[in-house]
Amino acid sequence: MNSVPPASTNASANSTMNLSTGGDLKALASHYNSQGELKLGLSSTPLLKMIDGYERPFYLYDLKGLRARAKIYAQHTRSAKSFFAIKANANREILKVLREEGLGCDVVSGGELEVALNAGFKADEIVFSGVGKTLAEVKLAFQKGIHQINAESVPELVRLQKVASSQPAGAQMRVALRYNPDVNVHTHKYISTGLKENKFGMADEELSEALALFQNGQLPNLTFVGLSMHLGSQILDVSSVRDGVKRLVQKSVELRSQFSTVDIIDIGGGIGIDYRSDSYQAELTLLKIYEDILTTEIPSSFKAEAEPGRILVARSGVLISQVQYIKIRNDRTFVVLDAGMNHLMRPALYQAVHRVLPLQKRSSSVRRYDIVGPICESTDVFARDFEMSEVVEGDFVALMDAGAYGRSMSSGYNQHHLPEEKFLAD
Ligand code: LLP
Repeated sequence: MNSVPPASTNASANSTMNLSTGGDLKALASHYNSQGELKLGLSSTPLLKMIDGYERPFYLYDLKGLRARAKIYAQHTRSAKSFFAIKANANREILKVLREEGLGCDVVSGGELEVALNAGFKADEIVFSGVGKTLAEVKLAFQKGIHQINAESVPELVRLQKVASSQPAGAQMRVALRYNPDVNVHTHKYISTGLKENKFGMADEELSEALALFQNGQLPNLTFVGLSMHLGSQILDVSSVRDGVKRLVQKSVELRSQFSTVDIIDIGGGIGIDYRSDSYQAELTLLKIYEDILTTEIPSSFKAEAEPGRILVARSGVLISQVQYIKIRNDRTFVVLDAGMNHLMRPALYQAVHRVLPLQKRSSSVRRYDIVGPICESTDVFARDFEMSEVVEGDFVALMDAGAYGRSMSSGYNQHHLPEEKFLAD
């Protein structure tokens, strides 16, 4: 259940748009004020002010910072139409900000399609990706008349055509083919998607088969609009993205000579952030390289599309949790939180790092802790040997950079409540 967010204020977000120095991203970083209170970016509210009536862990979002980040992202991707991958965060207020900032939506299920429409995205701003679209989901996409379906296999194309032909006469769907270029982007293997061994997209042979269906007139209700790809997530090595885009562009240029309808190149999402620190430099560098890839590799005769997720929302959310126990065993000190892998699954699933920061610093003394949750699984560990200012039972901490794939991947395991979502007042 969402609480009501404060009214959005654009003015201060706009005033930080100094892209030449990167100072704008710096202004958005989390930091401690002179009283040792943790704050997020542009918000003047210490996070500690948000825990009145605390009952259990909750996600806390900074919509002002989100808006500012969306603007920064937009400035670096002017030449592409971007569709926010709502699997990263489907919170209605977050979607509202991103819609207002001009993004469309990338959905991967009928549920996400409904959420996007309910959040006010128009059908013609929605792309439907995913390797396993069911018959019901395909029908829904046709009924709603979405912008584009990114098809991932030959059998999917056959299904799309079947559904299209049963629609009122003349139903036509824009379809991009998701290409699997077999490019290694050196990310965690569970979030790498552009290798041949991954289930995603079509490798060269499948692509040829799919193209033959179009050529032979077997897909009369589908308009082949181009190729898409998504190489993986949390990509920090952007040079491999350039390799992937080059392959995509080369293929697209070849295809255009056979298919006059080909006009888009969808490069997917994947830009990572530096979870180990607040440093804006890595993000800024990545965004600049990304911008360069968009402008130099994609011919202007094509319409570029992108599907960002994490880069927009990760830094704009934290998971607030309370220290339950300090448990000491020989040389280890466990900080047992009330938040666990059910609230934030990324560390358990991908050995992901999320910094854990006390909402109020007690002193400048630093300890080494194993920070763990209450769940009955040994993977329920947020950080090992983590250096943090001292905490005691009852203190509150923030698991940082949890705005992407945090709440959206949470579960009720061990019959815990799903975390609520709240918003920072100014
Ligand atoms: N487009 C497609 C087709 C995708 O499958 C994804 C993410 C995106 C775009 C957005 O990727 P992003 O810009 O957020 O990297 N749960 C994992 C990430 C899984 C990403 C799945 N697909 C995590 O927490 O790191």
